[in-house]
Order: sequence, then structure tokens, then C-alpha cells
Amino acid sequence: MEKVFGITPHGGKLINLEDFSAAALTEAEQLPSLTINAWTLSDLELIAIGGFSPLTGFMTSGDYHSVVKTMHLQNGVLWSVPITLPVDQATADTFELNQKIALKDKHGDIYGTLLVEDKYRPDKLLEAQNVYGTTETAHPGVKRLFETGDVYLGGHIKLLKQPSHGDFSDYYLEPIATRQLFHDLGWQTIVGFQTRNPIHRAHEYIQKLALENVDGLFLNPLVGETKADDIPATVRMASYQTILKYYYPQDRVRLVIYPAAMRYAGPKEAILHAIVRKNYGCTDFIVGRDHAGVGDYYGTYEAQELITSVESELGMHFFKFDNAFYCKKCEAMATSKTCPHSDADHISLSGTKVRQLLSAGVVPPKEVSRPEVAQVLIDGLKKQRTLGV
Ligand code: ADX
Repeated sequence: MEKVFGITPHGGKLINLEDFSAAALTEAEQLPSLTINAWTLSDLELIAIGGFSPLTGFMTSGDYHSVVKTMHLQNGVLWSVPITLPVDQATADTFELNQKIALKDKHGDIYGTLLVEDKYRPDKLLEAQNVYGTTETAHPGVKRLFETGDVYLGGHIKLLKQPSHGDFSDYYLEPIATRQLFHDLGWQTIVGFQTRNPIHRAHEYIQKLALENVDGLFLNPLVGETKADDIPATVRMASYQTILKYYYPQDRVRLVIYPAAMRYAGPKEAILHAIVRKNYGCTDFIVGRDHAGVGDYYGTYEAQELITSVESELGMHFFKFDNAFYCKKCEAMATSKTCPHSDADHISLSGTKVRQLLSAGVVPPKEVSRPEVAQVLIDGLKKQRTLGV
């Protein structure tokens, strides 16, 4: 077992459930199988590499109901978003309890195994209400929840094959490796940054405020499934490389992908995001305005408030930032905590507006987005359209 450097993982132990041996694969080939989608594959991977420590599998009913109702696993450890494997009833009926099954992707490649310890019907209405704060299907997370199968399979997993991260492979590291990296860099305090967007000036501002106070920044963009109108990860990755190259001290930032799907669960997802970054070795985490939010389902600072209520259980330090903008009078980025001027002096655009500009090939104001970043995004989006993606 490799040494686990840094902050204590969530729940006390960094989980590793990978077995890339030929023998394990040969054994799995003999098992009945279940085809899983990209979302479940990313959950499987995150459980196996320890990103979701202390989970060792997809949740059984005890943990599921406990998380939905109390935001804690049955053993009392804080956990905010159920990690589950939904299937339809007919599929569930084909598996026996305590049977080991192989998990395959749509091409038939085996990626892992699941010991079916539990088959149960979730309470999706309660899950929607308690995790997403709404039962409206206009919410993308809730929509997906109601579209998935009505039976959840729970039990221990193994990862038998590393999912491919394609163009992002150079930016993929497991939690054990990021911890080693931080140790090698001599970083003792590391701030994690979650994003599903390109880095705009407000992101840069809050990252750099945090970076004034810690040894290093762990830029950890989510690259799994996002909603259709978010900027695709392939386009975003190039923009991260660009902004780091031109505007960040190379020795104080590391860019590593977070291969998870986006749930848009706002405050509850902020806790999940923090837990995962702790497992990657972060001592600190940034929560700005409407973290992991969508539409107007959550209050601007609701994620910060929920995090504050469980901070001692998380055992991390949080940088909580107010809404940041550029102020023409201050001639600087600011928040209402530091700027006395009125809204009329402030420049900030919604993510939707920025995406519209970029899609139309228009560079947003430099107070909103670095021109080099905007250009990479415009080019990337254009290429995507040409490819018909
Ligand atoms: S998220 O869904 O991944 O949280 P996003 O990529 O927009 O969305 O945000 C990444 C982080 O930056 C989150 O912590 C978010 O709260 C914060 N953030 C985004 N924009 C601002 C802003 N203008 N001011 C303050 N914090 C912000």
C-alpha cells in the first residue's frame, strides 16, 4: 500500500478498489453483466480511486435513506448526495442478491464488478426534495433522477479497467497521486477549486485571493456529464491551459480533472465537492456564490450556509466569497464587501450571456473574461459546431 500523504481522508481512510489484473478480468468475463452509462461509470471510478472515500460501493438502502433523510451515512459520517446505481425493475429481477455481476460500458467492455448486496426501490420524491431542494423536473438533476430506473442496486464494487480520459489523460491523477504531488511540491495548505465553467475574471479573482493565503491552488474542473448548454469540457480544458499559461504562477497551481457528472444540487453538491477535494488532499476549498447551482433554485449563499453548518465534520477550511464583479470606479475586481460603488459601475455578465457571446464569436468585455481565454473558447465552440458535436 502506497503512503497516503496529507489531510485525513473523509471517513478516515483513502479507499482503493482497483484491480487491473488479468485474472480479475477473466473472472469477470464469466459473470452475468449489466451495461452502465457514462454517469455510472464515472461514479464507479470515483468510488474505486477513493474520490468518494469512505464509500466502497453503490449505496445500499440503509445508507441511501440515511443520506436522503439525515445527510449522513448510517455510520454517522457526513454525506450529502446519494451515490446510487439505478436500473429498471426487469433488469433488477435478472440478478440474485449476493451475486457478483460485471459492469460493462455500451461497447461491451468490462470496467468493474458489483456484489449485489441490495436491490431496493428509492423514494425519488423525497430524494428530489431533500437533495435538490425541489421536485420540479425543470431542474436538470431532478429530471435525470426521475428518468432513471426505479430500482437501485447497492453493494461493493471493484474497478477492473481504467476508464479512458482521452485528450485529458495528461491531466488525470488519482487522489493518492495528488496527495503525493502536493507532498513533493512541499505544499501543506492546498485550496481546491471546483468549476464546470471556463475561468472568468470573477473565478480568477477569488482563486487568487485564496492563493494569497495558501501554498497552492488545485484547479479541479469537472469534466463528466454536464447539461447541454454548459460549455463542453473539451473546449474548457484548452481555456484552462491558456489562462494558467498567461496569468498564473506555474509553480503554485496544478490542473487535474475531476471526472464526475454534474448534479446541479447546489448546497448539497457543494458538500460533496468539498469531500471529494479533501480526498484529493485539499485542506481548503472555495465556495463562492450559488455554488453548483442552476436557475434560481438556490439562494446565492445557501451553499456557504450549509457548508458552515457542517464545517467541523468536514475538517477543512473554507474560503467563502461574495459575488465578485469588476468595478469601473475601483478599476479592479471587487465584491460588495470591498467596493462602495453602485451596480451601475459594476461589470458582470451571467454565464448564459457569456456563452451567447462566445457562441456568436464575440469576445466578452476584458473585465469579464481574459481575451486570450475568450478567443480559445470562441475557436473551440466553432470547431465543435463544425464537427457537429
Ligand atoms: S459550479 O457549478 O461548478 O459551482 P462555477 O464553475 O460557475 O459553477 O463556479 C465555480 C466556483 O466559483 C463556485 O464556488 C462558485 O460559487 C464560484 N463563483 C462563480 N462565479 C462567481 C462570482 N461572480 N463571484 C463569486 N464566486 C463565484
